[in-house]
Amino acid sequence: MSFPENFVWGAATASYQIEGGVSEGGRGVSIWDTFSHTPGRIVNGDTGDVACDSYHRWAEDVELLKAMHLKAYRFSIAWPRIIPGGTGPVNAEGLAWYSRFVDALLAAGIEPYVTLYHWDLPQALQDKGGWLNADTAKAFAEYARVVAEHFRGRVTHYFTLNEPQCSVGLGYATGAHAPGYKLDDGAVFCAWHNTIYAHCLAADAIRKADLAALVGIAPTGRICTPATDSPADIAAARQAMFDLEDGNWTFTYSPALDPIVLGKWPQIKGGQAQRVIDAIPQEQLDALPLGRLDFIGMNIYNSVAVRARADGKPEFCPRAAGHPRTAIGWPITPEAMEWGPRFLHERYGLPIFITENGLSCTDRIHLDGKVHDPERIDFTHRYLLALRQGIEAGADVQGYFHWSLLDNFEWSEGYNERFGLVYVDYPTGTRTPKDSAAWYRETIDANGGNL
Ligand code: FCB
Repeated sequence: MSFPENFVWGAATASYQIEGGVSEGGRGVSIWDTFSHTPGRIVNGDTGDVACDSYHRWAEDVELLKAMHLKAYRFSIAWPRIIPGGTGPVNAEGLAWYSRFVDALLAAGIEPYVTLYHWDLPQALQDKGGWLNADTAKAFAEYARVVAEHFRGRVTHYFTLNEPQCSVGLGYATGAHAPGYKLDDGAVFCAWHNTIYAHCLAADAIRKADLAALVGIAPTGRICTPATDSPADIAAARQAMFDLEDGNWTFTYSPALDPIVLGKWPQIKGGQAQRVIDAIPQEQLDALPLGRLDFIGMNIYNSVAVRARADGKPEFCPRAAGHPRTAIGWPITPEAMEWGPRFLHERYGLPIFITENGLSCTDRIHLDGKVHDPERIDFTHRYLLALRQGIEAGADVQGYFHWSLLDNFEWSEGYNERFGLVYVDYPTGTRTPKDSAAWYRETIDANGGNL
């Protein structure tokens, strides 16, 4: 059985993780420049200063995408390249750089799927409070307008935000990501709320700038799968996936999607976050309908199994000893790709793109000059089989973007983790497609019928 007709097969990256060229083309400083240059923040003291050097090697990247027969490429635009100060003058050189890139993709028959915010906030906005300041949301909408006007007729698919669960959860709660804050739950929710408000204003600005544009968001979060196929376990998993307790709400889908799809902020049981929700200004509540989505992006890596207790309440199942894991240590749970989209589609009724899925492996160049990565092939094969089951069960999934096209700067893990279909030798920038790249091309050519 193959995948639905016109299924979009793609790969994904993000600006700070691949571009380098941080001081070129009039780019402003982002919070990730500041964070990665702060001693002790990133493994090995790595930074994105050069990364995969895609700022210079972009034409090579397009060739790689072409060779894999990819139909679409999800990449992010760096806000500090377009409006270096966060607000104020637009940097024509930045727009021109992405213009050349988008034109090259279109000429190669590859559809651009643009993420507007994959975490590289202009530092100038951080200096004014970053996402704790509602003005950042307004600045984001202006940036989105500039991009959507510029690319009218060339880019149709936009994702406003990538994973607020991480940019806010790791950025403002645990401090593992830029800007590295460890704030209380009320302040974290304030940053969260401003990012969702930003999505709403930006979605409106994009649609006003380009009537044909389609707008989505790319969240991630806890996926719960039923321990067995019993109706009780399925109900328990569904409940656990969307439930919000004080202290565990950041890594869930509902605080991102409920407000913009269902038009209301969810209840967060307990503490300070709920007090912030109760105090949201009317102007910001009124903005919720502007955020309506054309589709949802899901970044899926793993899940947790849930069973129903005797009283029906959900209970997380412990993982068996020796449960398979990827190189970064994330559990391998293909069933995430069946149940995640099923539960999300059930709750929100919108088309879905898998905007990220993949794994890091300890890849290296073998004696024969090739990069053999059977783990990546097996992992992706299993996850795609599960995705097909989810689609057969009714989830309207329209595309799959593998994370990532290239090995790249994995945030606080630096260059330790290799997630690419293409191996990057960082000292030279040389790219070597891994075995999985050839396997992925065959899968695309067969529309998944080979699986
Ligand atoms: C996701 C991020 C992406 C990448 C993968 C491995 O959380 O969106 O940039 O780091 O994880």
